[in-house]
Amino acid sequence: MRGRALIEQWPLLASAGVKRVTYGGIEITPAIRSVNLVTPAAQNLSNPLRDPEDKRLPRIAGPSGMVIFGVTGDLAYKKLLPAIYDLAHRGLLPAGFNLIGYGRRDWSKQDFEDYVEKAVKAGARTTFRRNVWRRLASGMHFVGGNFDEEGFDKLSDKLKELETNHGSAGANWAFYLSVPPDYFSDVCAQLKRSGLAEAPEGSWRRVVIEKPFGHDQESARELNNVVNAVFPEQSVFRIDHYLGKETVQNILALRFANQLFEPMWNAHYIDHVQITMAEDIGLGGRAGYYDGIGAARDVIQNHLIQLLALIAMEEPLSFGPRELQTEKVKILRATSAVQPLAMTTARGQYAAGWQGSEKVRGLREEEGFDPESTTETFAACTLEIASRRWKGVPFYLRTGKRLGRRVTEIALIFKEPPHHPFGEGTTTALGNNAVVIRIQPDEGVLMRFGSKVPGSTMEVRDVNMDFSYAESFTEESPEAYERLILDVLLDEPSLFPTNEEVELSWEILDPILDYWATHGRPEDYEAGTWGPASADRMLERSGRSWRRP
Ligand code: BG6
Repeated sequence: MRGRALIEQWPLLASAGVKRVTYGGIEITPAIRSVNLVTPAAQNLSNPLRDPEDKRLPRIAGPSGMVIFGVTGDLAYKKLLPAIYDLAHRGLLPAGFNLIGYGRRDWSKQDFEDYVEKAVKAGARTTFRRNVWRRLASGMHFVGGNFDEEGFDKLSDKLKELETNHGSAGANWAFYLSVPPDYFSDVCAQLKRSGLAEAPEGSWRRVVIEKPFGHDQESARELNNVVNAVFPEQSVFRIDHYLGKETVQNILALRFANQLFEPMWNAHYIDHVQITMAEDIGLGGRAGYYDGIGAARDVIQNHLIQLLALIAMEEPLSFGPRELQTEKVKILRATSAVQPLAMTTARGQYAAGWQGSEKVRGLREEEGFDPESTTETFAACTLEIASRRWKGVPFYLRTGKRLGRRVTEIALIFKEPPHHPFGEGTTTALGNNAVVIRIQPDEGVLMRFGSKVPGSTMEVRDVNMDFSYAESFTEESPEAYERLILDVLLDEPSLFPTNEEVELSWEILDPILDYWATHGRPEDYEAGTWGPASADRMLERSGRSWRRP
C-alpha cells in the first residue's frame, strides 16, 4: 500500500488489530499522521532508510555517461534532455553522470549548458531545482564536429579525458543516435574506426537508435546489418517510445495479472479490435522528416503494431526480455493484412479546416511540403492473426494528424449476446460491450456494458465503468523517455523492439505500402474531422463503425 493511502486507512487497519506496518524499511504507526512515501526514490541516494530489496523502487543507473548525436535537433530538445533532467531530479542517475552533446555547432561548455537549461525549463516534468541542475551541468560537455574522422577523434579524446578523471568505472557509454537514419552508417563506422564502439575490459558500450528503422523490410534489414556490424544485438536499443508509456505496460498487467479478462480475450467473445492513435496537431515544421514518409511508416509500423502485439500475444513464460520478445515475434509472424486492400485499407491527407476555433492549413500548404505531395497523414488498415485465439477477428488500426482530438486507445468490441430475452425495442440503445484501454490522455480503462434504465419498463442502455490512473494513484507517471533512457543505462532490454520485430512489422506493412504506391493519391479530409470517408466505408462494409473516442 502506498504511504498516503496507508495513513488514510489507519482507522480500518486499527479496527482489524494492526498496530504497525513496515513500508520500504520505515516503521509506521498510527501516531504518524503524514509521511512522504509516495516518491521515496526522490530521496534515495543518501537515504539510509531506503530498502534496496524493495522492487517497487526504480533502480539507480550505475556509473555511466551518454553521448547524444544530433543534440541540437527537435527530439533531443523536447524529449531527451528534459527526460535526463527528470531522471537526475528523481535521483536515478549515477553521481558524476556525463552528458556529452555532439553536433555541428561551435559551442563552448557554457553554450551547451545554456541550451540544455532552456530545454529542461521548457520540457521537464519535475520542478527546476538549482542543486540538481548544478550537479547535472557539471558533467555536461559539448564536442563540435561532423560525422568524420576529425570530429570523432575529438570525441574520443574527450571521452578518454573524462574516463581518466572517473577511473575505470567511467568507461561505460551509451551512444544515442538522434539523427536521421541516413547518417546511421557514418556514425557507426566512425564509432568503430575511432575505437569508441569497443568497450575496455569490465565496461560497456551501447547504442540507442530512433525510428524510422528503414522505410520497408529490405532497408530495415540493411540498417540492422550496418548497426550489427559494429554493435552486437544485445548492445542495440531501438526506441519505440510507446513501449515506455505506463499505460502500454499496463496492457500486460491488465491481461495477465487478472482473472477477469483473459477467459474472454479471444475469438469466441471478441468481435473485433480497434487501435486508434489520433492527433490534432498538423505537420507544420516537420516536412523534412514527414514528407514522403507518411502516417503508416511514421506510426503504424512501430507504435500501433507493437500495441497489437501486446494486446494479442499469448502469456509469456515470464516478463524477462527473451520471453516477451518470443511471444511478440510469434504474434507478428501470424499477422497479415486482410485482402482485398482496396476495401480493407484507407488513407487520407488533411485539407484546410477548423481545429477548434482555429482555422488551419491543409498539408499541401504547410511550410516545406511539396504542393503536389501525396504523403498520407491518415492511414487505416485491417489486420488478421492466424491463430486459434484470433481466427476471424479483424484488428482495425488507424492513425491521423489534424483529427478531431488527441487520443490513443485500444477498444476490444465484444460480440452481441446470442439472445436478448427482454423483448422488442428494449435494447435499441444498447451497443456491443467493450473494454477500452485509454493509452492517452485521461489514462485508464473503461468498460461499457448494458444497464437497466431506472423506471417501470425493462429498457437497457449502455453505461460506462471507468478506471482512471489519475484518480486511483497519486504518483505521476514518468515520461516514456525517462523510463527508456534509464533502461538503456541499466541494460534492461524488455521495452525495446528487436531487429526481428522491426523486420516482421515491415513484412506486415509492405504489401499495403506497395498497393498504395500504385493506386493514386490519398483522399482529402477536412482538418478537425475524423478522417476520410473511405475509412468509414472500410468498417461499414462489415456492419461495423469506428468508435468516436
Ligand atoms: C512519434 C511520431 O513517434 O510519435 C509523431 O513520429 C507523433 O508523428 C508522436 O506525433 C506522437 O507521440 P505521443 O507520445 O505524443 O503520442
